[in-house]
Amino acid sequence: MPINRATPLRVAVLASGRGSNLQAIIDAIEAERVQAQIVAVISNKKDAGALERARKHGLKDVFVDPKPFAGQSDSRETYDRALLELLQQHEVDLVLLAGYMKIVTAVLVNAYVNRMMNIHPSLLPSFPGLDVQKKAIDWGCKLAGCTVHFVTEGVDEGPIIIQAAVPILNEDTPETLAARILVQEHKIYPRAVQLFAEGRLRVEGRRVFIDSAKADAEAIISPS
Ligand code: GAR
Repeated sequence: MPINRATPLRVAVLASGRGSNLQAIIDAIEAERVQAQIVAVISNKKDAGALERARKHGLKDVFVDPKPFAGQSDSRETYDRALLELLQQHEVDLVLLAGYMKIVTAVLVNAYVNRMMNIHPSLLPSFPGLDVQKKAIDWGCKLAGCTVHFVTEGVDEGPIIIQAAVPILNEDTPETLAARILVQEHKIYPRAVQLFAEGRLRVEGRRVFIDSAKADAEAIISPS
C-alpha cells in the first residue's frame, strides 16, 4: 500500500446515483483533509448526479453504457473488462464504489484486491443488499449505521475498515434514518481513503488493522 508517495494517490470513483459520497470525498480532497486526486468518475447511468458533480469540479466524468454488453452470456464480466481498461489507462491506485448499484465481478475484484472500497448503509454483516434502513427498522434494531469495507466477490462481504453507529429512534422512517446514516457516511468514507493514502491499513484475513496508537478510535464511530 502506498506510503510517502511522491504524487497523490490516484483514485477512481464508481457511482450510479446522486453522488453525495463522491461530493464528501471531493470536499475532503479540496480541503486537504485527504491526500488524493480523483482521476475519473465513472457511471453506468448517463444521468447520474455523480457525473454532474464531477463536471462541476473539473473532474473527468465517464459514462460507460451497459446496453451494448447486455444479452451476452458474460455481460457483467465484459462490462467490467471495459471498466478495467479505463482504470488501467488512468493508472488508478484505489477504486471507490460510492452508491455504485452494479455488482462487480471477479474481473475487477481480482485486479484491485484490497485496493477497492465500498460504502454500505448498514452495520455489516447485518443487512447486506438493498432497502437496508427499512430492514433494520422492521427488525427492531436499536442501532443502525454504515460500513466502509474492501470489496471481495461476495456482495457487501469484504473486510471491514470503518463503521459508524447511528441510533434508531421510535419515530424513524427509512428516510429519516437514511439521512442520519448518510451524515456518518460522509465522515467515514473520506477518513478511510486518507488512512489508505497514508499506508496505514493492514489486512489480515477478514480483519483490517489501522496502524497507530489511536487506531480503535479511528475505526469506530459511536452514537453521541
Ligand atoms: C449511500 O447511502 C450508499 O451507502 C448506498 O447508496 C447511497 C448512495 O448515495 N450504497 C449502497 O446501498 C450499496 N450497497 P450517494 O449517491 O449520495 O453517495
